[in-house]
Amino acid sequence: MTKSNITLPLLFTLLTFIDVSTGAANVFNVVSFGAKPDGVKDSTGAFLKAWEAACGSAAAATVMVPSGTFMVKGITFGGPCKSRLKFQVAGTVVAPPDYRAFGNSGYWILFNKVSKISLIGGTFDARANGFWACRKSGQSCPPGVRSITFNSGKDVIISGVKSMNSQITHMTLNGCTNVAVRYVKLVAPGNSPNTDGFHVQLSTGVTFTGSTVQTGDDCVAIGAGTRNFLISKLACGPGHGVSIGSLAKELNEDGVENVTLSSSVFTGTQNGVRIKSWARPSNGFVKNVFFQDLIMKNVQNPIIIDQNYCPSHQGCPTEHSGVKISQVTYKNIQGTSATQQAMKLVCSQSNPCTGITLQDIKLTYKKGAPATSYCFNAIGTSLGVTQPTSCLNR
Ligand SMILES: *[C@@H]1O[C@H](CO)[C@@H](O)[C@H](O)[C@H]1NC(C)=O
Repeated sequence: MTKSNITLPLLFTLLTFIDVSTGAANVFNVVSFGAKPDGVKDSTGAFLKAWEAACGSAAAATVMVPSGTFMVKGITFGGPCKSRLKFQVAGTVVAPPDYRAFGNSGYWILFNKVSKISLIGGTFDARANGFWACRKSGQSCPPGVRSITFNSGKDVIISGVKSMNSQITHMTLNGCTNVAVRYVKLVAPGNSPNTDGFHVQLSTGVTFTGSTVQTGDDCVAIGAGTRNFLISKLACGPGHGVSIGSLAKELNEDGVENVTLSSSVFTGTQNGVRIKSWARPSNGFVKNVFFQDLIMKNVQNPIIIDQNYCPSHQGCPTEHSGVKISQVTYKNIQGTSATQQAMKLVCSQSNPCTGITLQDIKLTYKKGAPATSYCFNAIGTSLGVTQPTSCLNR
């Protein structure tokens, strides 16, 4: 008997069918456009050509970065594109070896005004060691570049992406709508300066789930104009925790509304959940925030509101913040504090925090020295067990 009785015409039909069903005709492989997987040759031009071909395609298209290491300089993938796009990365994209190559551009990989796009997989290594060394030495250095940025994007999925060793922020959303970020890994050494993980501002409808962030600055930074932002299953640390702010950077500033962080773990971080504003006039606000089901492991400030931020007392004429904080719930937050003051709610002198709820908080310091709390101008209620004892005003 023959091993297979598939006839040649049938095989041909099957292959044709597979080809059509995977949309192979619309895959634009960067290597076909001249990219070299050797980590050395400049593949920027090839990436751009592959992007332009995909972006101009009338049918859904894929930009494919196969396995191997590709060196890419500062690059803008511009939209709008004609159809839905997938940017699929199997290999590693590395920044040029000399950090000065970026000048003052502010971006390494920028997706500008692109809608209906999925960025799937891959590793992006900005190799910022030289840049951090420059900053630490106190020389004058370029301002640094964010590794992956979406400006004015809509209907975006980012999944399974790893970003390493960013100069400044690993991943930024600015002016975006409807973005799902899943299973990303953002990694830089705990002592690398200003390497924020995920930064969101002026954006609505963002989810950030199942991700790991280990950096030298905020794991997640939530800026002005963030609305309807859901974070869950985050593993944060080392780093500075999850921070709403710094706000009150400007007098006229958009508010932050509807932020939920749940089912997450902080390990050895500077902060757990923080809301931070400069002590100066602003019409910004923070409202409807839920921090729930969180585990703190040896965190310096597990729960903190700091509205007195003003390093060296410069640029803060009134020394109190105009940012109004209201309706913030802390529920089921447990674990250990690395400092005795596990909960610190320092609100604006002129503008108290209102509607703060503490429910089922159990933070311990160490044996024989119970954790403490400190409040200033913080108004709200506590429910269930609250340890340390609630310091809220009613
Ligand atoms: C915030 O959430 C509430 C309740 O889900 C919703 O009614 C409101 O429209 C949201 N705010 C914004 C700015 O979308």
